[in-house]
Amino acid sequence: MDIIKTLSDYHKQYEVSTSKPDEFWAEVASEFVWRKKWDKVLQWDFHKPEVKWFQGGKLNITENALDRHLPHRANQTAILWEPNDPSEAPRKISYQELHREVCKVGNMLRSHHVKKGDRVCIYMPMVPELIYAVLGCARIGAVHSVVFAGFSAGSLVDRINDCGCSVVLTADGSFRGDKKLDLKAIVDEALLQCPTVRETIVLKRTGSNSPMKSGRDFWWHEEVMSQSADCVPEMMDAEDLLFILYTSGSTGKPKGMVHTCGGYMVFIGYTFRTVFQYQDKELFWCTADIGWVTGHSYIIYGPLLAGATTLLFEGIPSWPDPGRFWQTIERHKVNIFYTAPTAIRSLEQAPISYVNKYDLSSIRILGTVGEPINEEAWHWYNKNIGKGRCPIVDTWWQTETGGIMISPIAGVTPLKPTYATLPLPGIQPTLMDEQGKEITGTGEGRLAMKFPWPSMARTIYGNHQRFRETYFSTFPGMYFTGDGCRRDAEGFYRITGRVDDIIIVSGHNMGTAEIESAVDEHPAVCESAVVGYPHDIKGQGVYTFVICYEKPSDEDKLRSEIREVVAKIIGPIAKPDKIQFVSGLPKTRSGKIMRRILRKVAEGDTSNLGDITTLLDPSVVDEIKRGALS
Ligand code: PRX
Repeated sequence: MDIIKTLSDYHKQYEVSTSKPDEFWAEVASEFVWRKKWDKVLQWDFHKPEVKWFQGGKLNITENALDRHLPHRANQTAILWEPNDPSEAPRKISYQELHREVCKVGNMLRSHHVKKGDRVCIYMPMVPELIYAVLGCARIGAVHSVVFAGFSAGSLVDRINDCGCSVVLTADGSFRGDKKLDLKAIVDEALLQCPTVRETIVLKRTGSNSPMKSGRDFWWHEEVMSQSADCVPEMMDAEDLLFILYTSGSTGKPKGMVHTCGGYMVFIGYTFRTVFQYQDKELFWCTADIGWVTGHSYIIYGPLLAGATTLLFEGIPSWPDPGRFWQTIERHKVNIFYTAPTAIRSLEQAPISYVNKYDLSSIRILGTVGEPINEEAWHWYNKNIGKGRCPIVDTWWQTETGGIMISPIAGVTPLKPTYATLPLPGIQPTLMDEQGKEITGTGEGRLAMKFPWPSMARTIYGNHQRFRETYFSTFPGMYFTGDGCRRDAEGFYRITGRVDDIIIVSGHNMGTAEIESAVDEHPAVCESAVVGYPHDIKGQGVYTFVICYEKPSDEDKLRSEIREVVAKIIGPIAKPDKIQFVSGLPKTRSGKIMRRILRKVAEGDTSNLGDITTLLDPSVVDEIKRGALS
């Protein structure tokens, strides 16, 4: 399939992709190496729901991301690693070296009796070995489940047990700015409650003195050393599992989204090349963490499937100073830079000299992902980073969708600040009203998808019923995204935010129920309710209403204790920003908390709270209004 180069190419491809989806995706898929061609491009039924792409096809994604490139790219840099500390030397890993390291990790896993279909948990810092680990699993057909290395032991336990991992790949520690985190100690604590884990393999990164449990814990360097650099790839069915990645749900329990080999490969390869218009020899930098789907799809798989050079950054944007991103762009001559609106907003706060002292002329294309970008941040990014000459692709997608769904195509389709604009070929969005009727033309409603695309999640691991209920029951016969959305007269889409109980804090997707159950773990807390509120930098902040058993004697002390409990149970990213103590919550007679009221209070808009007569005790509302935190 030719890459879209003009607006008319886009319209043509879009038309074919919807009128003849089988032909369209077969052509895209035929660019990849298949050991056996598929028998059927697509079989689907959104009522069950069941979606199968490229059935009967056999492949290994690492052959496509690595082996396929060796004849002409062996010495090209595949991964350029920029360490946490800018005074530590960056590392360049060529396609040949990456192939070798991935094979060794694959063999290491096999020597530890990991086989096709086994689940392997990866809890590692942003170092090249993390990519070797992911691809090493894919090489031998093990299912990788990467857990963000900022999650606490409790969150790790839930994710390991839910899918029954047998092995954990981790590191002694990780660096984050001037802090060191002892990852192995967190793993040790978690494993007290993980009966399925037989072994851990531990990479040395920080040199912390991790105690090793004999017979269970092995050092990565010792295990990998003697492995052969030849690792026969496992032949996978297109619909075999490639990975599980957990995302927050409206209930406390995270959902293990299941992605499969063939469709994921085809869609991620296609969207990477299309959206970013990647050109040979360019350097692509996605600043996400590999613990999130953005890192899976656009640090690892997308760029490597395209034979690109991908920059892997271990550090944080604010250390040693807020110029770190811009310094790194100058240092390595980054051509395509893909980041989150929250990072842009936080770096905007620093004096502009942190931007202007660096040469950013290598940048050709900018991107954003993870949450709506506000108009002001869009213009700041465009003016100061892109110098008004780089298209900004505002890419809308989700863990569940696997890859980019609605986005401008850089330099090809028109931009409109704060709009993700047009659906990519193969994507058929629609807007639904509250009564479940389709909205046509200009309007605002709930965003749903009418037709499957190759990289959509196939199920929630071990819970197909929850998959059906969460995504396919709101609008029968359609995939419901959970997002609100507006469509303008030109057919451009603008995501307005979540319409369910999920909040997006600094680009991280979190369930309010998950935070509430963590807050409730504090012995002084009787009940809590969490809502999001607009936050200048984080996009949304966490506002928590707390009922205590007894009136707290020192509110600030209790607030900081509650924050620590949440950090311990979920991870520091979930810490509440504001905690308001209340004596009651606005509940209906059936006991349901009316979050609409709490959201208004948290937003600082108490002028019109709507109808509160259905509340069990309307008087609590006055107290909540009086105590609202600004
Ligand atoms: O609400 C949308 C928001 O992030 C949600 C998905 O979060 P997650 O699964 O963590 O994946 C994030 C990275 C793909 C969506 O339901 N979101 C993502 N991208 C955008 C966005 N909201 C507005 N504009 C975007 N470009």
